[in-house]
Amino acid sequence: MFGRTLIRHASKTTVMLLALVTVASGTAFAQQSTFNCLTPSRQATARIVGGQSATYNQFPWQVSIGIRGRDAYDGHFCGGVLIGARWVLTAGHCVQGQASDPANLHIVHGVTNLRSEQGNMYNVERIVPHPDYNNDDVGQGNDIALIKLDRAASAGRGAYALLPQASIARNFVFPEACAVVTGWGTTRPEDQAPNTMQAVAMPIISNEECRRAYGVHGFSPDAIPDSDVCAGFLQGGVDSCQGDSGGPLVVEGGPKGFVLAGIVSRGGYDNPTGFWCALEEGYGIYTRVESFVPWIVQTIRDN
Ligand code: ARG
Repeated sequence: MFGRTLIRHASKTTVMLLALVTVASGTAFAQQSTFNCLTPSRQATARIVGGQSATYNQFPWQVSIGIRGRDAYDGHFCGGVLIGARWVLTAGHCVQGQASDPANLHIVHGVTNLRSEQGNMYNVERIVPHPDYNNDDVGQGNDIALIKLDRAASAGRGAYALLPQASIARNFVFPEACAVVTGWGTTRPEDQAPNTMQAVAMPIISNEECRRAYGVHGFSPDAIPDSDVCAGFLQGGVDSCQGDSGGPLVVEGGPKGFVLAGIVSRGGYDNPTGFWCALEEGYGIYTRVESFVPWIVQTIRDN
C-alpha cells in the first residue's frame, strides 16, 4: 500500500494498477484561475506530457498525504483536500493497509513544491473510511475517507474546498463543465513524481458516456456507479494518474470560486504500454463528492 507501485485497485475482471502519480496532461489553462478545456492537440496526445505547474496558493485546499518519518517529497503517496480546519478528504484506497494507521501518516499543507521547506506538516488523529468502501472491490465506488488532523491547520476558511450541496452541484458539476485536477502524481510512465504540484483542465463526462467507453474495454456498467463522476477527453492525453489519488477535481464557480466535484479514484485499463493514465476511451474516474456530503457532515459532527 505504501510503495509507489504497490497500490492496487482490483475490479471484478481486472486489476487496475495504482502506482503513485501526478497529473498527466496535454492541455493547459490560459491564465491563473481561468481554465479552458480545449481539446488537446494531436501532438500533445501522441505522448503524455507533464501538466502545468500550479502557482503558489492557487489551489490552497490541496494537501499531500505521506509516510510519517519521511520528508514531504519522499513520503508522498496520495493527495487530499482540506475541507475544514481539522478535516481532510481523500480516497478510501489511500488509507488501507499500513496507511490505515494514523501513526504512519503525515499531512503536508501550504506547499506547491514538495521539495521546498514551505508549508506545514501535521500528524493524523483519526481516519474514517467510508463504511461501504470495499478495498477488495475497488472498482465499485465509495472510494472516500476522512482524515482528522491532530490540530487545526494554519489556513483561513478561504483555503477550504467548498463541498457541493445538491443545489450547487446542479449548477456547476454537469457534463462538459470544465474541471481542474491537481496533484503530485506521475506525469509519464518513466518519471518519478514531480516536485511541483501539477494542474490540468478537462471536461466533466456523463456517467453514461463513461460507462460506454469502459464497456469497450470489457468493464461492466457497475464499475462506474452514479456516485462516481468521470472527467477527461475521449482521445485521452490528459488525466490524473498514480499519486494523484485522494486529491481534488474542482469546477470553477460558486460562492467560493471553486466547487469540489470529485476525489481522484481510478481509471485506465490494461494495455501494452502498462500505463493506466490518459488513455483513449479511458476517462479518469472520481468519487462524486456531492453523493457523500451527508456522510461527510455527519462524520465530522460525530468525531
Ligand atoms: N489510483 C491512483 C492513485 O492511487 C489514481 C489513478 C487515477 N487514474 C486515472 N487514470 N485517472 O494515485
